[in-house]
Amino acid sequence: MADYQRKLIGEHPTIADLRHLADRVARSAARTVLIYGETGTGKGLLARMIHNASSRAEQEFLDINCAAIPANLMESELFGHEKGAFTGAVERKIGLVEAANRGTIFLDEIREMDLPLQTKLLSLLDTHQFRRVGAVKTTSVDVRFIAATNKVLLTEVTAGAFREDLYYRLQVVALNIPALRDRGDDVLIMAQHFIDQFNTAYGRNIRGLAPESEAIFRKYPWPGNVRELENLLERIFILEDEDVILPRHLPDRILRTVRAGARVVPPAEDPAPRPETGFHDATAAFQRALIERALDASGGNMQTAAAQLKISRHALRHQMIKLGLQSA
Ligand SMILES: Nc1ncnc2c1ncn2[C@@H]1O[C@H](COP(=O)(O)OP(=O)(O)OP(=O)(O)O)[C@@H](O)[C@H]1O
Ligand SMILES: [Mg+2]
Repeated sequence: MADYQRKLIGEHPTIADLRHLADRVARSAARTVLIYGETGTGKGLLARMIHNASSRAEQEFLDINCAAIPANLMESELFGHEKGAFTGAVERKIGLVEAANRGTIFLDEIREMDLPLQTKLLSLLDTHQFRRVGAVKTTSVDVRFIAATNKVLLTEVTAGAFREDLYYRLQVVALNIPALRDRGDDVLIMAQHFIDQFNTAYGRNIRGLAPESEAIFRKYPWPGNVRELENLLERIFILEDEDVILPRHLPDRILRTVRAGARVVPPAEDPAPRPETGFHDATAAFQRALIERALDASGGNMQTAAAQLKISRHALRHQMIKLGLQSA
């Protein structure tokens, strides 16, 4: 099913909050939105929902994957170019930003954008104007940018790969999609939702998961999140004949992980900060990221975050003031 027809399924409080927040953001005048979430958690879906719920819904929603477009083509792709701007620019070309005027641009994997282009993007966010490659005059646009990332951007800032000012600019409205393993029984609710959909699509009548399969779904850490769940179920619809999903229908990889008992969390992909960043700035950024993660996980509750970090609430507050996360 096409993404724009989908709803954000789930009953976990974090997902209910997210739906509410996304709706608020959609109807607001916010020009930038940042979506955090592991791979397959629904970042693309959420971006599309925000567009659909906004007054921009009748205009374009353009999806740009910063990792998929070579850095040297990205600027002309986004901003377009004038005739003769470079060898091969035989005609003026309108860029995606102009094509999406009054609509939304989804910048997926924003951390892959190179630094010079980050500078140009920031200037566009500040002034609502940009220059086509090779142009003298600026062009005005009204576009909402929704950026997405599956990595902690602050680590990129520390490593010098992401502009700090752009980071703070994007951070103003940041939505966090929790991993599927952190949504409690939503995994079962979503499984049933996909089963219902595939029953229609494949003309089948699978009732649901056997209790033993439910237990496995609860324990498995779902590193590929909702996409992994959806693909797994579709595979079962194609390959199996029973009308209930049994453990033997599940891939070995899943059974082994669950049997090993550990809630294996995907390895941290954040690169280690570079020595040139300096000991002080690098450790401060690390501490900030740690605190921000604890606060995200606790829904902003200081007491819970402090307990998770195994420090006192007072110590947490002190650190936050020291690190500039809170005013004194
Ligand atoms: N809460 C949800 N309810 C219903 N479907 C969902 C939900 N979350 C994700 N999906 C579905 O799961 C699949 C993966 O979602 P999506 O592509 O939005 O993830 P993503 O975070 O953008 O992944 P990636 O980081 O790999 O780009 C899609 O088919 C999407 O429609
Ligand atoms: Mg995506």
